[in-house]
Amino acid sequence: MNETHLVEYLSRASEHFPAMNNIYRPQLMTVEHIRDETPDVRTLRLAFQDKAVGEEFAFIPGQFGEYSVFGRGECVFAIASSPADRGHVECSFKLMGKVTTALRDVEIGDTIGFRGPYGNGFPLDELRGRNVFFAGGGIGMAALRALIEYCLHHRQEFRHITILNGARSVADLVYKEDMARWAEQPDVELVQTVDPGGETDDWDGEVGFVPTIMEQMAPKPDDRVAITCGPPIMIKFALLALERLGFPPERVITTLENKMKCGLGKCGRCNVGPVYVCRDGPVFTAAQLQNLPKDF
Ligand SMILES: Cc1cc2nc3c(=O)[nH]c(=O)nc-3n(C[C@H](O)[C@H](O)[C@H](O)COP(=O)(O)OP(=O)(O)OC[C@H]3O[C@@H](n4cnc5c(N)ncnc54)[C@H](O)[C@@H]3O)c2cc1C
Ligand code: FES
Repeated sequence: MNETHLVEYLSRASEHFPAMNNIYRPQLMTVEHIRDETPDVRTLRLAFQDKAVGEEFAFIPGQFGEYSVFGRGECVFAIASSPADRGHVECSFKLMGKVTTALRDVEIGDTIGFRGPYGNGFPLDELRGRNVFFAGGGIGMAALRALIEYCLHHRQEFRHITILNGARSVADLVYKEDMARWAEQPDVELVQTVDPGGETDDWDGEVGFVPTIMEQMAPKPDDRVAITCGPPIMIKFALLALERLGFPPERVITTLENKMKCGLGKCGRCNVGPVYVCRDGPVFTAAQLQNLPKDF
């Protein structure tokens, strides 16, 4: 069965086989727009082919989806778009292996699969009425992008917003247009940094690792929530830096990227002790992480 036949088959399957109407059945999505963020990160804008489902679809920033290339496999990415953007989802992916390589080959107009939203998402009620400090590194900005867009869409519900964004090099900085737009919003401060050696002659941002710059910025913990997303090594040192800055662990929030399969608490691929990262996370406070098994 070639890809076109497989897509047609999935479209009609539930009419003929009610059992196909199952939790693993993806929505069919049309690739509407492709943007290269960096040499190895690409953003896809996907439209729900079933318009009614698209209009109904809603998610909490920090939730994720399973994206599939038919015949090639499925993998997990944060939903990176604004929750206010109905009928569409966006994801940004870094080229890693089998599925992301297959996704690199999709073109505008192609059909891919999407199921979700899964996971808990960011605790929005904990953020409302507070100052919010975002610290994102590399592709970790994808989950933060949805939350930053949410905060800006509901601007009056949040106080001062600081966005610290880091990347290995200037060429690796993602969401350049979004960053410029965010920086122009009232009461929003944007600081960008690249790893030592990743700067260019005309770079006017910071040079240093995200946790180092975070400590230099020294955000006050008073009535502020810190949210950090990025590679595990960055998160490890960012959590230590926030602890030194005096943030209580209940007001430090991060996301975990354990390997996943089903995405919805069935297969046991992602668990840490009794916790299923796909279902109970991927968003956790530093206080919750302290209660996970030590080998984590
Ligand atoms: C909740 C969550 C949100 C995520 N959001 C994003 C996102 O927005 N954008 C993005 O680019 N990626 C994200 N990821 C990571 C992404 O799921 C993996 O990079 C992707 O599944 C790789 O698929 P692949 O088939 O191309 O690679 P594979 O062929 O499966 O693997 C290639 C290599 O990457 C390693 N690998 C695969 N998955 C992971 C993982 N989760 N953690 C560490 N190493 C891994 C493998 O061990 C192997 O060495 C997220 C993961 C989780 C759990
Ligand atoms: S990925 Fe299957 S239980 Fe979490």
